[in-house]
Amino acid sequence: MKQAQIVTVVGARPQFVKAAPLSRAIRADGRLAESIVHTGQHYDENMSDVFFQELNIPTPKHRLNLGGGGHGKMTGRMIEAVEEILVDEAPEAVVVYGDTNTTLAAAIAAAKLHIPIVHIEAGLRSFNRRMPEEINRILTDHASSLLLCPTSLAMQNLKMEGLSAKAHLVGDIMFDATLHAIETGMRTSDIVDRLGLSPGYAVATLHRSENTDDSSRLRRCVEYISKQADTRKVVLPLHPRTRQRLLDADISLSGIQLTEPLGYVDLHRLLVDADLIITDSGGLQKEAYFHRKPCITLRDETEWIETIECGWNRLWHQNDWQVPRVEISDYGMGDTAQRCVEKIADFLGNGPTEL
Ligand code: UD1
Repeated sequence: MKQAQIVTVVGARPQFVKAAPLSRAIRADGRLAESIVHTGQHYDENMSDVFFQELNIPTPKHRLNLGGGGHGKMTGRMIEAVEEILVDEAPEAVVVYGDTNTTLAAAIAAAKLHIPIVHIEAGLRSFNRRMPEEINRILTDHASSLLLCPTSLAMQNLKMEGLSAKAHLVGDIMFDATLHAIETGMRTSDIVDRLGLSPGYAVATLHRSENTDDSSRLRRCVEYISKQADTRKVVLPLHPRTRQRLLDADISLSGIQLTEPLGYVDLHRLLVDADLIITDSGGLQKEAYFHRKPCITLRDETEWIETIECGWNRLWHQNDWQVPRVEISDYGMGDTAQRCVEKIADFLGNGPTEL
């Protein structure tokens, strides 16, 4: 059978994580042939290369260096460069993940060339249009031909926007990625010893533009995290955006143990022995649940409502977790990557696998 050619466009850290299980499933299945484009949105060794190496993601066929700059400049340069690649590659579909500037740029480039777009992690909404991610995900969903959703709430959001006909519930591909990282991390990572930790610490992350770009808000976030350090050790792998903004605003992080950004396997090994996660990352809120650890989200709303409703997550302005913790049924069984491959192959007319 002829393989259907697809191009996957990634560029930022969470996309590398999600691309890994899909690429593995594509290789195992055999109906699709994938070329990867890396826009270079994230370019530091520890924000990019380490993920490709440790997660065995195939080397990108096209590596662009388009990180940095404002949203318009970054997105515009990406549209131009991705368009050229898509014209050359002429794929049957373009796969994009999540809500970054890379996602939107690839979607616009593909849509203008009439190449169908597959959006993985479709349908999430924070209902806060001041977040660049919210604009990116809404526009990408509306430009896409196949919307693969992690939760039933995401399906409902798409229904409200008239997009149900293209939407499918497949579960959360990040769960696949987390299971793989925990298994690898327990075998190979010495991060807990390297950082001199014993079980019962908190892991914090902070990078969202709505938290970092206003110095008084950044100061409040840092004070909030520091307060947690009164009762337990707090480890904070520092995103380069945050490092720069802290320097600019002359804010110190007293009582917090800083590290460079961590690879995915080290991060998950670290979470195994943590007892609290504090974060503004979309991904980490759910990964906290995958580890069955409580999470405090440093935002005023979240796309992952079920983590709040089931008692695992709370927003930082809420005093306590709202309900006793119960399991969340939505995220699938760790087989989301294979379900995505099935949906993409069906969509491209490449039918179910022959037994
Ligand atoms: C981006 C995504 C966000 C995602 C996050 C994961 C958008 C709008 N935001 O945010 O949704 O949660 O990635 O990390 O796409 N920088 C470096 N080295 C790097 C990468 C970035 O120094 O390897 C600097 C950039 O030059 C920039 C800043 O960090 O000044 C922010 O990077 P950017 O890619 O704009 O967005 P993120 O904050 O990482």
